[in-house]
Amino acid sequence: MRVGIVVQARNGSTRFPKKMTSKLLEKTVLEWVLLRAGRAMVDEKILATSILPEDDTIEQTAKSLDWKVLRGSPTDVLSRYAEVVKKFHLDRVVRITGDCPLIDHRLIELSLEKMTKEDADYITLVGIIDGFDVEIIKGDWILIADKLAKLPSEREHVSAYIKKSKKAKKVFLRYHEEDLSHIHLSVDYPEDLEVIERILKELMSEDFTYQDVVRLIKEKPHLLERRSQVVPNEGYYKSLREDREFIKELKGKPLKLEESLKHFEKTKRLIPNCSQTFSKSYLQFSVGASPLFVEEGKGAYIKDLDGNLYIDYSMGLGACILGYAFEPIIEVLQKQLKKGTIYTLPHRLELELSEALTQIIPCAQMVRFGKNGSDVTSVAVRLARAYTGRDMIACCGYHGWQDWYIGTTTRSRGVPKAVKNLTLTFEYNNIDSLRKLFDEYQNQIACVIMEPVGVEEPQEGFLLRVKELAHRNGALLIFDEVVTGFRFSIGGAQEFFGVVPDIACFGKAMGNGMPISAIVGRRDVMELLEEVFFSFTFGGETLSIASAIAVINFMKEEGVIPYLWEKGTKLKEGIAKLIENKELEELVMVKGYPVRFVVDFLGEDALKLKTLFQQECAKRGVLFSGSHNISYSHTDAEIEKTLQVYDEVLDIVKFAHEYGMIDQLLEGQVLQPVFRKP
Ligand SMILES: Cc1ncc(COP(=O)(O)O)c(C=O)c1O
Repeated sequence: MRVGIVVQARNGSTRFPKKMTSKLLEKTVLEWVLLRAGRAMVDEKILATSILPEDDTIEQTAKSLDWKVLRGSPTDVLSRYAEVVKKFHLDRVVRITGDCPLIDHRLIELSLEKMTKEDADYITLVGIIDGFDVEIIKGDWILIADKLAKLPSEREHVSAYIKKSKKAKKVFLRYHEEDLSHIHLSVDYPEDLEVIERILKELMSEDFTYQDVVRLIKEKPHLLERRSQVVPNEGYYKSLREDREFIKELKGKPLKLEESLKHFEKTKRLIPNCSQTFSKSYLQFSVGASPLFVEEGKGAYIKDLDGNLYIDYSMGLGACILGYAFEPIIEVLQKQLKKGTIYTLPHRLELELSEALTQIIPCAQMVRFGKNGSDVTSVAVRLARAYTGRDMIACCGYHGWQDWYIGTTTRSRGVPKAVKNLTLTFEYNNIDSLRKLFDEYQNQIACVIMEPVGVEEPQEGFLLRVKELAHRNGALLIFDEVVTGFRFSIGGAQEFFGVVPDIACFGKAMGNGMPISAIVGRRDVMELLEEVFFSFTFGGETLSIASAIAVINFMKEEGVIPYLWEKGTKLKEGIAKLIENKELEELVMVKGYPVRFVVDFLGEDALKLKTLFQQECAKRGVLFSGSHNISYSHTDAEIEKTLQVYDEVLDIVKFAHEYGMIDQLLEGQVLQPVFRKP
């Protein structure tokens, strides 16, 4: 293990220019520091100063006393230390500042010993007189900090980043009971020299100890009297001010959003919510800081009304799995469009798509189509009620806009109480919460309808246990695969996890943006649809059916599912790494599977942080809504760009939080949740 003392010194102090070459008795300040610190038993003694010509004399002094010298950036002191670590292969760096001429090598040795004993990454003495400061940092940690520290304060003060890091093992060693840190014996102002000189004269030796100084000033406190007062922590406060300026500058230039905002004003008068879907509305996109309306999309990009282009990850709420305006699908749609869209009789293509679905989805023996996910989750429940002759249902997840589901949420206005009372909810990965429902409502529950997986992984055997429990109680199991279908696997989550339900509902991705959904399932149950009413004008609309057939063929031929997993993994892991490196685990989390995951903000400022993140991502060309529904059009280039944008913007979020500057940085309205916390 190689230990080096690194003394940082410069002549350019604004408070006290040329202080290093100022005299204290017959030696300069720097000579005192180097002579006294240099008595410590270490492998290397290095002086780190700036490349400025005014520091040439510092280099000469150090060399004359057999110290090695490294010269680097005048402001980025951390980078100077990193260079020292690399050049001299140091495992530990004892950091001493050039303004501590009284420094005692025994304190260095003691700290080194304690550091080894505690296996610490960082150690410092606390409570001692200011002017005897010792900090020891592991070399590796200096390199980590050099890579990750961004704030001016973290670049200027070498240990600032390490001290903030929750990952570094830090030891704050109290040397004596009494706190003497208010006593100031470092050289910050010319007046300090007088006090130190008086002490040196009294001590009459060059190798006095820290205790000698403590004893002396206790006996003769008048020695500390000085003509002017020092401003405590002045340098630190200056750094904080610089940090705040730096953080403001990280913010990008405001986006051009005039057209979006004009359109918003007009739309407000005609369209409640200004959108057909809550999740696409201004609740989820910040008015004033994010685009609000789209003009067109292509591949993984959308263009807003002001002509700004963004990489998109919502992809039409998960619908456009291949990409917007995807050419192979456009061709199929154009051909079909010329032949008509809906007719007086069912179209031949309905059978073709049904055959394809029964081949790829494990539970599919019969098939019917709808337009939205809500259509098929609704009919699935009606079917289960008809099949079992029971009225109650147990659900877990989101299932659409219909009464029986929305009645369980905080947006349940307009849902009759009688309907609400028929829907029970249970907790994912909590089999007991479902068992309780079956115990309480024996022979009354028609079905368990659930998303087989959301962002939380199913615990080993959970889905199978749900199936057994439902069947044992005479209820059907319905998987709502509106999100998972055509994404986790071409046959949905049931294929991915190997648990086959009685009925399953598909939607979203199956038409790559065309409105189509499907209910599939066991023949004996599905046959009841001969009687159960599920019938509407646009059922069997051929453009969407032709699109779904083309999507299935394309996905199979081009290996789309493995592609989504690979690219999603790259993005998700990249984001997780950023969060880890920036130690943002308490503020941001990435959760879910690579093919569909969310980035969520935590804590009481969660929505503000999300708004700020969205604002700054939009400026940098990424439309952030939280969900990441990877598509076949997201290539490495988009993923790398996104990671670069998230890297920058996570810093803004982190610093805004750390410095209480969130409100100051927000340019638009704060986002609102679609469903409030109950
Ligand atoms: C799991 C799940 N089920 C059902 C639905 C309802 O689908 P739709 O909005 O197409 O009616 C959604 C919509 O987001 C969903 O995520």
